[in-house]
Amino acid sequence: MMGLLMPHPLPQLEAPPPPTAPASTRRQQSLRDSHGRAIHDLRLSITDRCNFRCRYCMEPDDRFLPKRSLLSTDEYMRVVDAAISVGIRKVRITGGEPTMCPDLDLIVRELGKRDLDDLAMTTNGWRLVVSTVNRWREDGLTRLTFSLDTLREDRFATITRSSSSVFDVIHSIENALMGGLPQPKVNVVALRHFNEDEFADFADLARDLDIDVRFIEYMPLDSGRAWTRDRVVAEQDILASISARHRLEEVSLSNRHSTSRSYRFADGAPGRIGIIAPVTRPFCGACNRLRITAEGAVRPCLFSNREWDLRPLLRHNATTDDLAQFLVDAVWTKQAGHGIGLEGFQQPERGMSAIGG
Ligand code: 5AD
Ligand code: SF4
Repeated sequence: MMGLLMPHPLPQLEAPPPPTAPASTRRQQSLRDSHGRAIHDLRLSITDRCNFRCRYCMEPDDRFLPKRSLLSTDEYMRVVDAAISVGIRKVRITGGEPTMCPDLDLIVRELGKRDLDDLAMTTNGWRLVVSTVNRWREDGLTRLTFSLDTLREDRFATITRSSSSVFDVIHSIENALMGGLPQPKVNVVALRHFNEDEFADFADLARDLDIDVRFIEYMPLDSGRAWTRDRVVAEQDILASISARHRLEEVSLSNRHSTSRSYRFADGAPGRIGIIAPVTRPFCGACNRLRITAEGAVRPCLFSNREWDLRPLLRHNATTDDLAQFLVDAVWTKQAGHGIGLEGFQQPERGMSAIGG
């Protein structure tokens, strides 16, 4: 396997196929892991490229995979069709940055033809115009999530190491609203000593635009390996900071697989706040997700240190059933939890941009 994000070469992609799941699971042909969780949600990374270099994700000199090792659109669709045949109901298109993928429009169009309950995408929102949103919506995209970690231009330049701007991203969010995609979300990675004084400002943004702003505790998924526990702003601190300006009421969610806690504003203003707390309130027990990287590695968990390479099957004309069987077996190996904070925890070799959020 060629190195992905030097200097952390990935050993896994020459791994053998996964061990076979028990006969009962194989017979049912459903994605079920050995801890009793059913998997219905696929995160599909369609590129490892990104035009940003967010500090909690990538380093400036991280290398990208050679183009030939990325899957083709046809291969992504074969994987998705196999995944749907064993119970996947939701697909989220991720990257890297999905808009760096030249085939993105085609991929949205093809995915839009599949029988899915939900088709979403996460983007850094560097330049999204209304006509693109309209096209994606007509083709079947149901939801967009934007990543934005600060509302201050100087900090934006520092965190993203890009020439884009807060202005550009907010404009993209407004274009998503104008293009008729309901309730766009904004993901904010909460970083101690960086944006912790802006949480209430983000709550104002949620109210002004009537959107969901979701704060995510910083996870050890940065390719620079600078994560330390003291850089994590815990859920309670995020809540306290927002509550100093706005009273929040927790909303009970119908979706028990939701990774976030959700709040509305007690004064009835529009917009919502979500908090995703993988570090201080792990939700692994309710996880129903499966990840596939841009080069066809099946990662049952965001924090997997083992992954299963679909490329040999794809490139040797495997049938949908063969691919589905492989996914069933790979999912069976999904680990119980991420173990952040436990002794012996090992950060995955891939950074977030090489996994797909
Ligand atoms: N910790 C928490 N969230 C992260 N993201 C990327 N890297 C990290 C990290 N180390 C977020 C991005 C994106 C989402 C998919 O994951 O902001 O919105
Ligand atoms: Fe790119 Fe998203 Fe990673 Fe930032 S967090 S470098 S936008 S993939």
